[in-house]
Formats: sequence, C-alpha cells, structure tokens
Amino acid sequence: MASKVTVIGTGNFGSTVAFILAMRGSCHEVVLRGRNINVAKGKALDMSQAANAAREHTVVRAAEGPEDMAGSKVVVITAGAPRTPGMSRDDLLTKNAEIVKKYALEIKEYAPNSIVVVVSNPLDVMTYVAAKYTGFPRERVLGMAGILDAARMAHFIYEKLGYGAGQIRATVMGGHGDTMVPLPKFTTVAGVPIDDLLDSEEIGEIVKKTREGGAQIVNLLGDGSAYYAPAKSTAVIVDAILKDTNQIHSCALMLEGEYGYKDIVSGVPVMISEDGAEQVIEMTLKTLQKTRFKNSVASVQEMVDALYSNGFFDDLEEK
Ligand code: 2OP
Repeated sequence: MASKVTVIGTGNFGSTVAFILAMRGSCHEVVLRGRNINVAKGKALDMSQAANAAREHTVVRAAEGPEDMAGSKVVVITAGAPRTPGMSRDDLLTKNAEIVKKYALEIKEYAPNSIVVVVSNPLDVMTYVAAKYTGFPRERVLGMAGILDAARMAHFIYEKLGYGAGQIRATVMGGHGDTMVPLPKFTTVAGVPIDDLLDSEEIGEIVKKTREGGAQIVNLLGDGSAYYAPAKSTAVIVDAILKDTNQIHSCALMLEGEYGYKDIVSGVPVMISEDGAEQVIEMTLKTLQKTRFKNSVASVQEMVDALYSNGFFDDLEEK
C-alpha cells in the first residue's frame, strides 16, 4: 500500500526529517507543509531530485493547504519557534502551544487516522496539547525526545572513552527538559555496563552534559537549535511505524497509570508498531531513579497546569 508522511514545518528541522525519509525511501510520498508555499515547493522539488540521485522512489511535494495531509500514515509536527540563546525550552510554552493546537485540529479534520509525532518544544507539553486537540487514542500521539537525548548521552560517553562509537546503548527517560532522567545503570558499551568503564564522577559529568546537550548547540549556532540529531531521531520513530518494527524506543507518551502517573506526558520506553505506541515498557526503577522521574513529570505538570490556568484549554471539547 502507498505510504504517505506529512511533515509540518519547513525549517531546518522539518526539512531535514523529510530529507532523511526521502534518502531512505521510507515511504512513497512526503508532503511538506509550511507557511511559505514557495519555500515548501522549492525544498520539495530539491528533495525529490535528491531522491532520484539516491535511486529512491520517494516523491516529496508541497502542501497547498491542510487537505493535502489526507491519507497520511504519519504526520510530524515540527512547527514552532526555535530556542534562541538564553531561552529555555519552557520559555516557548504558550507561543508554541497555540501553533500545535492549530495543527492538531487540522490533523483531526484532514488526517483522522494518522499517527502524530510531535517534536515542537517544550516537547512533552506539546505532545499533551496534540493529544488533547486531536482527541486520538494515546497510541497515536507520540513525542520524539528520548532517542535524541540517548544519542547525545552515547556521544558524550564516546568522547570520554575515545572508543565504542556506534556500540553505545544509552537510556534516557522523563521529560525533554532540564529534568530529563539519563539512566547510566541502563547504559552499556557493546553490552559492557558503563560503570565498569567510567567512575562515578565521569558518569556524573556525562549526565550533566546530556541534560545540557540541546542548549550547548543553541549557544554554538547562535541562531536556532539543533536539527540533525533531532531529525534523525524523529525519522527513527517514523520508520519504526512505517516498517512495523515492534522495536523499543524511548518516546514521550500520555501515561495511563504506567510508572504511577496518569493524564500527563513523559518519556518512557515504548514498543512501536504500525499502530503507533503499542505498549509501554515498565522498567524496575531504584528509589533515586523514581525520584528523578517524579521531578521530571512534575516539571511537565507545572507547565500543563500553567496552560490550564491561563485558559489555553478552555475551548477543548472532551471526548
Ligand atoms: C534539542 O534538544 C531541539 O529540543 C531540541 O536540540
């Protein structure tokens, strides 16, 4: 069956997601939806031509309007203002919540059977907003972040060790913010636990660098945030859905009692299939890990509560 993916947002992040999907021939069609249709058209043409150079069958085209999302298996929401130096992901809250709400309502109308992957920041709250305004079952609204944060942690471990690149399996749970929960105890290099390779001070340094990994790139770029690793991490989720891989990835998801939380989004290990987030995997956490996860959930809850208090959700039609 023909497969179609819509990417909302034609900035660096959205374009790079579309480009990776086109270069891998992940689907038959990628639709690029951006505010500036000519830019979307230009990028779509460029990427379709690149797909030909790569001998791939994917065609990229620009959406003229929301109706062009119809029939999408996956819709990726990248739209939103990027972080600038000194700005936390959380500063973007209300501005991006309005943008995500608008697109969630369009997806509900024009692509009602799609699976939504959210990457706008603050990511967990934006996933919550998309879940509420699409009204989709929770398995069809996922946020990308754990894959990215784990990739950053893996890179910092490689930097410290000087070997093992590509063999490092890092695990990060919780929100994609300053309270994210890197889990060194669940992290290995070719199966070797990292605490057999690094001491606790070195591991502590890696955990800190992982939490600050996004800000580090924001500061270096000076104008916008990271997009190569975020886009590749997003494409991993899209591929897992399109190929029905049944593999486990850390994703932001509306919790329904798992880990003791309900009606809040946080990053947890999820088994992904063609139906989306088919199953949440519950790991056994130690007391300190549970406390860190609790703090991370609380920081997302605080932002969700701020949106409820400022009336953002007043127009929400509950199912
Ligand atoms: C990052 O961490 C953009 O949130 C994204 O780089």
